[in-house]
Amino acid sequence: MPAIHIAPGLVQRLASILDTARVPARRFIVSNATIWRLHEGAFAGLTAEDPILIPDGERFKNLQTVGRIYDALIKAHADRASAIVAIGGGIVGDTAGFAAASYLRGIPVVQVPTTLLAQVDSAIGGKVGVNHPQGKNLIGAFHQPAVVAIDPALLVTLPRREFRAGLYEVIKYGVIASRPLFDRVAATLKGLFARDESALLPVITESCDIKVDVVGEDEREQGRRRTLNFGHTTAHALEAVTKYRRFRHGEAVAYGMLVASEIAVTRGSMPEPDRDALAALIAKMGPLPAAGDIPVEEVLDAIGHDKKVVAGQLHFVLPTAIGSCEVVTDVTRDEIAAAFTRCCSR
Ligand SMILES: NC(=O)c1ccc[n+]([C@@H]2O[C@H](COP(=O)([O-])OP(=O)(O)OC[C@H]3O[C@@H](n4cnc5c(N)ncnc54)[C@H](O)[C@@H]3O)[C@@H](O)[C@H]2O)c1
Ligand SMILES: [Zn+2]
Repeated sequence: MPAIHIAPGLVQRLASILDTARVPARRFIVSNATIWRLHEGAFAGLTAEDPILIPDGERFKNLQTVGRIYDALIKAHADRASAIVAIGGGIVGDTAGFAAASYLRGIPVVQVPTTLLAQVDSAIGGKVGVNHPQGKNLIGAFHQPAVVAIDPALLVTLPRREFRAGLYEVIKYGVIASRPLFDRVAATLKGLFARDESALLPVITESCDIKVDVVGEDEREQGRRRTLNFGHTTAHALEAVTKYRRFRHGEAVAYGMLVASEIAVTRGSMPEPDRDALAALIAKMGPLPAAGDIPVEEVLDAIGHDKKVVAGQLHFVLPTAIGSCEVVTDVTRDEIAAAFTRCCSR
């Protein structure tokens, strides 16, 4: 596992952190114009190389953009004594990370996540990759970053909807692994939305600890790593059925968590007050895009196509309380349909 540094204002001293970690001295920043316009100043002096700016948006997370990164690296004669510094959200991190994993059979990458989602999730774990016209994240690799540098101060400029989308993933960590984290989010929601460093720091730190702990145990998607998929079976289906246009990923995860908790409560494997606490926290964060018009049959079919259905078996993560969960393989279409109708059709 790479060194993960978390501190407000940390990007100001990034160069010395990278020197200490022996990251090669020729450093190529990969970012996008939105982020660069807002934060270029914070990275002054990090490198003499021109930044490689890629277009902003999920539709550009593809091999063509990876090709543009290769082009820029080749033009600058980047060699094995070079590294990529990915400064951005999950899209920049995944795309630049994949370019780093494959350029010259792999050069080091430094992840500097600038969205809450990237700070607590995508920058950690070593998964990198891009989309294919046939599906999301179909092309990729495992490429652990040399350093992950998380600066909560970068989140000040993040649009509220993006911030909130990341916060649902934090809540996911709370539900699967830590009641104290869940309670902390609920208790400090105002400070979090105000991007107070004192509120953000413990929440980001604990989320990272949970992800590191879980993926550290098994890097390649077995056992405990599956628990990170809590809420994601339904989320991926909702995203696919709405062609990735209606929901931010985290918003779909919020619905997915409600559906899974509903199934768990109906089975008698999760106490009702815990489900209610989750529903209340999600409601308190503000309205989700409506899902009531989405036909349940389409959602069920999309769940059947999820790439995480292994050998026809659907692994479903169900909470057993706030702070613990189990992976089961016997959730039926009828159970999902009933829960979906109850949670999403308002
Ligand atoms: N590798 C993994 O393990 C993993 C895990 C989860 C998600 N992902 C991937 O992450 C991607 C989503 O990442 P995301 O949610 O960070 O979205 P994103 O990268 O698209 O960023 C969201 C938006 O916020 C802007 N932005 C980023 N930082 C900003 C800042 N500090 N201030 C203002 N604007 C800023 C971006 O330019 C973009 O428009 C998806 O492609 C998903 O597949 C990967
Ligand atoms: Zn997710």
